[in-house]
Amino acid sequence: MDKFIINGPCKLKGKVNISGSKNASLPILAATLLFDKPVEISNLPGVKDIETMLKLLESLGLKVNRNKKKKSVKIFKSKKIKTQASYSLVKTMRAGILVLGPLITKYKKAITSLPGGCLIGERPVNHHLSALKKLGMKYNIIKGYIHATAHKNLNGKKIIFSKISVGATENLIMAACLAKGTTILKNCAIEPEIRDLINFLNKAGAKIKWIGRRSIKITGVKSLNQVKYKVMGDRIECGTFCVAAVLTSGNLQIKGFDPKLIRTELTLLKKIGAKIKTSLNEINIEGKKNLNSLKNLATKEYPDFPTDLQAQFMVLLCRANGISKITENIFENRFLHVGELRRLGAKINVKNNQAVILGNNSFQGAELMSSDLRASVALVLAALIAKGKSIINRIYHLDRGYENLEIKLKKLGVKIKRIH
Ligand code: UD1
Repeated sequence: MDKFIINGPCKLKGKVNISGSKNASLPILAATLLFDKPVEISNLPGVKDIETMLKLLESLGLKVNRNKKKKSVKIFKSKKIKTQASYSLVKTMRAGILVLGPLITKYKKAITSLPGGCLIGERPVNHHLSALKKLGMKYNIIKGYIHATAHKNLNGKKIIFSKISVGATENLIMAACLAKGTTILKNCAIEPEIRDLINFLNKAGAKIKWIGRRSIKITGVKSLNQVKYKVMGDRIECGTFCVAAVLTSGNLQIKGFDPKLIRTELTLLKKIGAKIKTSLNEINIEGKKNLNSLKNLATKEYPDFPTDLQAQFMVLLCRANGISKITENIFENRFLHVGELRRLGAKINVKNNQAVILGNNSFQGAELMSSDLRASVALVLAALIAKGKSIINRIYHLDRGYENLEIKLKKLGVKIKRIH
């Protein structure tokens, strides 16, 4: 298992390019199951979750020609499409559930492994299933697999999600795209990655329209056209580098991402004390020595503060003056990084879904264990300001979602080494 060795403290300086978005690429790749014609997708990040999704598509019978250097992939339909998504692929990546909507609407049957819980929470898929049922999908759960069928085409319906879910919104958009008639989705997630999926499908001839802030109208079409599409930049990677700049009192020019999409995060960073200048697809960010605490930072659905940046902001608030509070509203167990941060010297108290952070901490390097994707990157950030050597174990979590992290950090002045 690979690990990182980081020698701190360090100051990040220079230019960094943001990679393609993992969370936008995954549903777009799943949506290629809807096509009879070839699809070309570019700006795919070179991360493990994308490899897993491509393997899953291949296992379902699609032909996948990946050009890793160009970060692109061409996907063709083959004669033999299979409709069973195996547990061995879906267990490592919950986004595997995203093939259910496309398979059921296009091929009228699907057997997909029910994704289990993960360390950060239970993560059920009940809203995906009940909404697809409304469109006409029938299903049983047998031995950990969802066995789904549809007698004929799915039928458009009005669906009001009782909970805002990114994955359920994406699954329903894909399913409704080839359903008969009109589907209205209400109380949808409106993350930029969902807009990217819609832009991709519309470019291929789908009829999907925003009809309100959280409402989408989808008029089913018979088929989709050949298409080339460039995936958007990664919002969470961009936010992580912004935090890294402020945390290390560094100075970064972050390129390849639209700053308007992380307005909430940039406003918070300004409050903490960052100097920020933005232009089209570029953020210039500088950190000061003295940082301000945040009295009540709470994770919430987009456009509010994302749960995927909660761990990174927590590290930053350990360095701020005074006491900060973070409330985690999306996942029930997303403070796994706290125990590891304490080992570096952090003073954080957790009660239920709230963490109280006593600022002005100085960290000493230590050996640490990654627990999930975003928690691992938080440990890397913490190691950047810790005095001496830190070893971060189990970085396979990190490799699921950050492209060339150590190469990017090295270029910015970090003493980091990957040990195989
Ligand atoms: C996506 C992101 C993930 C991010 C999360 C929240 C991808 C591949 N992953 O995950 O990085 O942290 O959004 O922004 O894009 N829920 C239910 N029932 C359901 C579906 C969800 O109870 O059927 C709950 C979940 O347990 C969670 C909350 O709703 O508490 C939000 O989950 P959801 O928005 O669905 O997250 P994902 O799509 O899994």
